[in-house]
Amino acid sequence: MKTKKSSKQRRTRRSKRSKLLQLPTQTHETRRVIEEGVSPLVEKYWFQRYDLFSRYDEGIKLDEQGWYSVTPEQIAIRQAKRCENATVVIDCFAGVGGNAIQFASMCYHVVAIEIDPLKVNMAINNARIYGVEDYIDFIVGDFFQLAPSLKGDIVFLSPPWGGPSYRRVKKFTLDLLEPKDGYAIFQAAQAITPNIIMFLPRNVDLLQVEELCWLSSPPLEFEIEENYVQGNLKGVTVYFGGAAASQCGPS
Ligand SMILES: C[S@@+](CC[C@H](N)C(=O)[O-])C[C@H]1O[C@@H](n2cnc3c(N)ncnc32)[C@H](O)[C@@H]1O
Repeated sequence: MKTKKSSKQRRTRRSKRSKLLQLPTQTHETRRVIEEGVSPLVEKYWFQRYDLFSRYDEGIKLDEQGWYSVTPEQIAIRQAKRCENATVVIDCFAGVGGNAIQFASMCYHVVAIEIDPLKVNMAINNARIYGVEDYIDFIVGDFFQLAPSLKGDIVFLSPPWGGPSYRRVKKFTLDLLEPKDGYAIFQAAQAITPNIIMFLPRNVDLLQVEELCWLSSPPLEFEIEENYVQGNLKGVTVYFGGAAASQCGPS
């Protein structure tokens, strides 16, 4: 009886000590959150900053939407590796450059379209940090207006999911995508090439995704990949046409 009590006391003392040891690190991180002016909405993403950009500390810039919508680096690398033989990749919703940087790192030429000029400035800054700005043509503009004049081997679509609230719906239907529904986005891309990659929420309605293949005749091949970071499901990448078969070459 006496022995049991003393071992319990020892356990309690040890756990108190480990709490004390964690304190300086937490304080340092909290201080950085304040110094960098991180808003409560993006605080959670700031703690994952190195998953988003491994070179974050070298001067990476993101605005609020950029924080919650950038593709985590390991996922962007994976998506880029799947385009091995392509010469020109068009990133139609480029944001702060998470995907464009990884496509360019694989030595493709990238056309990066983004409607918000402030994000384009951030993307240029971020691409410079990764040393790939010379491989990317940044265009400030509306993808839907530019689409008829674009040429490329692969079209990459990472449209807005409507903010962090996408998680609240049980099934994310394609009409929830912005700035137009998933069918309209896909059709604009198809006019450029059938080799399309789409990055979608983890709760996307997969039956609707399959329907996209039937917008083409014969229907496009497709492949669905779940994307995890640190064991957490972050999204779903769908590869269509030649991108599904990993056979995208210059057209
Ligand atoms: C999900 S984010 C892209 C994130 C990007 N893949 C990254 O890793 O940084 C979607 C982006 O599409 C942009 N956008 C919205 N409508 C657009 C349009 N019509 N044409 C081009 N870009 C648009 C938004 O400003 C936003 O930055």
